[in-house]
Amino acid sequence: MAILVTGGAGYIGTHTLVELSAAGYKSVILDNLSNSSPLALERVKKITGDDYKFYKADISDRAIYKKIFEENDIEACIHFAGLKSVSESVSFPLYYFQNNIVGSLVLIEELFKRNVKKMIFSSSATVYGEPAFVPITERCPKGEIPSPYGKTKSMIEEMLIDISKADKEFALVILRYFNPIGAHESGLIGEDPNEIPNNLMPYITQVAVGKLPRLRVFGNDYKTKDGSGVRDYIHVTDLADGHVMALQKMKKGVSIYNLGTGNGTSVLEMVKAFENVSGVNVPYYVTDRRPGDVGECYCSAEKAKKELGWRAVRDIQKMCEDAWNWQKNNPNGYS
Ligand code: NAD
Ligand code: UFG
Repeated sequence: MAILVTGGAGYIGTHTLVELSAAGYKSVILDNLSNSSPLALERVKKITGDDYKFYKADISDRAIYKKIFEENDIEACIHFAGLKSVSESVSFPLYYFQNNIVGSLVLIEELFKRNVKKMIFSSSATVYGEPAFVPITERCPKGEIPSPYGKTKSMIEEMLIDISKADKEFALVILRYFNPIGAHESGLIGEDPNEIPNNLMPYITQVAVGKLPRLRVFGNDYKTKDGSGVRDYIHVTDLADGHVMALQKMKKGVSIYNLGTGNGTSVLEMVKAFENVSGVNVPYYVTDRRPGDVGECYCSAEKAKKELGWRAVRDIQKMCEDAWNWQKNNPNGYS
């Protein structure tokens, strides 16, 4: 029996492959490499010593499923595949709706056709919009979502929930990630953004390695501890472990979990923590707030702890250490 991992060559996918292997699962990967490199999968093999069947194809390519199911015995799917740039989605919404929503619909149809009715879906804290309260629990209502990217996550959630209402055999886990950062401690796999990073940690590490001159801090007038934005950063390996625990505890019906640490860290605190760990100065300047950003976003991860027995164990220092180790060893990512 094997797990079909869509988007398995990506940042969170590769780290999850490692943890799945460690837990004794066999994975089969479906990825079109639109935002990843085949080298990432070679590195995963190096870490785990396992071999993986890899299908380079789009999740909307119906023909590929025939081949995958003929060649493998799939028991469940972890569905990471999707485009994830907030800014790109604002410029090209149709591309995002087509890729993420239509792709997910084809995937779910093809799985159901073969009676595979276990799925873990990668959702995001972005579905909460400007949170009604913090710490955010799973009961927090969804908010106004500012980007087409975020809307695809919310729409896919709704779609999957409706499907599960109609089919009681469906075991669906929706994982809402907070802010994944860091890298595998080997330094062999990590986050490899195209062009200039949008996200804080890869931006910091690229400043530290000399690829970018200075960090822009987007706003210091939020109602937060020091005025800069506060987020719940989670080590990508902890996040990957959350998928393994969810797989082990899967049950029929819908289960929704926040995956975060429950701690809020500000941009300025993160810069300081990174400087302390790396010994490298990170020059920055404060500029306007970034449109669409919320001031404060952190979760209560109590539900995942209680029901899955999962909690994040790696702290901000470890996140910075591993992000830096990856960036130092791979200044140009996988290229
Ligand atoms: P990533 O871009 O590194 O990985 C996504 C993978 O999916 C890539 O390898 C890409 O090539 C593949 N892919 C995209 N569209 C595809 C398609 N149509 N068919 C086949 N493969 C396709 O992103 P990631 O950071 O690893 O994120 C994984 C998932 O988690 C995504 O769904 C993302 O929206 C979600 N998520 C990420 C974050 C984050 O901050 N990284 C936060 C919340 C949710
Ligand atoms: N920030 C800066 N400078 C930068 C980049 C970010 O000051 O160059 C600040 C932001 O304003 C924010 C914090 O750092 O306060 C974190 O920003 P990120 O871009 O790293 O992360 P976001 O919380 O904006 O969004 C991320 C993903 C979304 C996902 C969300 C929740 O990009 O896709 O986490 O999971 F939906």
